[in-house]
Amino acid sequence: MANQIIRFGVIGCGLMGKEFASAAARWCHLTDVDFEPRIVAVCDANPSAAEWFQQHVPSVERTYSEYKELLADPSVEAIYCAVPHNLHAQIYVDIIRAGKHLLGEKPFGIDQDANAVIQQAIDKMPQVIVRCSSEFPFFPGAQQIVQWVNENRFGKIIEVEAGFWHSSDLDSTKPINWKRRIATKIHGRSWHACAPFASAFRQETKKCPFALTKIVNECPDGRGGTAPCETWDNAVLACEVETADQKFPMLLSTKRIAPGHANTWFIRIQGTDFSAEFSTKYPKQIASLPYELGRPQAWHVWDVPNKSAYGTITGGIFEFGFSDSILQMWAAFCDEIVNRSGIRQFFHCATPEEAAGSHLVFTAALASERTGETVTIDWGI
Ligand SMILES: NC(=O)c1ccc[n+]([C@@H]2O[C@H](COP(=O)([O-])OP(=O)(O)OC[C@H]3O[C@@H](n4cnc5c(N)ncnc54)[C@H](O)[C@@H]3O)[C@@H](O)[C@H]2O)c1
Repeated sequence: MANQIIRFGVIGCGLMGKEFASAAARWCHLTDVDFEPRIVAVCDANPSAAEWFQQHVPSVERTYSEYKELLADPSVEAIYCAVPHNLHAQIYVDIIRAGKHLLGEKPFGIDQDANAVIQQAIDKMPQVIVRCSSEFPFFPGAQQIVQWVNENRFGKIIEVEAGFWHSSDLDSTKPINWKRRIATKIHGRSWHACAPFASAFRQETKKCPFALTKIVNECPDGRGGTAPCETWDNAVLACEVETADQKFPMLLSTKRIAPGHANTWFIRIQGTDFSAEFSTKYPKQIASLPYELGRPQAWHVWDVPNKSAYGTITGGIFEFGFSDSILQMWAAFCDEIVNRSGIRQFFHCATPEEAAGSHLVFTAALASERTGETVTIDWGI
């Protein structure tokens, strides 16, 4: 039987917009799915960005420079929106009000207030599926850790550490872009560091002393002069997580300047019965340590099979990568649009509530930086 086609519009045709186009173009990679995204309309304020889609994505029927015109197209059912953070609230709200399903990019609003405005729009349109992009938990190694969490394999949790590190901003000759200006971005990569704990633990982070650091203060402005780098480079959050029956420390770090790292996403969990760790730096490897009284405390390091949430044509021994994780995330989003709660596997895309949680944590980080004090987070529940 033919796949059910979901007609997509893309708003923001930059780096991430193109990644979606590439994932949609290799849909044949997936086995046993009965849904498929088709990008029929695109919008970018910069005509040359939209032009790339006209040249490379044959399904595109219309291009726009004003997103409201795209939203007025009744044949578009769903939107991927990947624009600078200061535009999230306005554009996401308009998408949701137009009744289109939305996969929005992180951090889902430039700050907590913007995030709350998006949440209000979602509450008024419960029939619309809204999810936040987070591809790394779809790596098979991460999925294995999620499974162990769900099976309560760890015993009493001793400590959790998760992070997202890269280092391209160590290059002080790299011209400034919107990602280093406070008007267009406050935090963002921080979402990826939160995503594993949001997805795997769904527990409460209570108290957080934070260290925020600025390392590169100035860079070329692209016009022969220099410009201040206004955003924080690195954030290290020492959180205390309290659940119904235990308390444990959780270290979250998000670094734009971590020498030697390029998009490293990792999670480590230590428990009294079992410990495990996974990093995208070694995408095939997963390490685990089952603890048995009187037995050596030895790590088992093995090549995790290429077995993802949605089946693929790839052999189990082949390496999994970033493009594969994006494809899996897109499958989960399309699955939810078509099958709602009957989604085919257990792992859905990150929710707006999880994005709101990351805003709570990182707003507390900014407050802690200002006051120098540990902040207790009020989850309002
Ligand atoms: N999930 C991930 O792994 C990941 C990675 C990088 C970026 N992101 C997120 O994706 C989003 C976009 O980042 P990017 O790296 O693709 O940025 P980008 O700068 O490459 O692309 C953004 C695009 O938005 C366009 N744009 C700006 N204003 C617009 C408007 N009013 N209407 C329509 N288009 C407009 C720009 O012209 C540009 O082409 C951000 O939220 C960012 O945090 C996510």
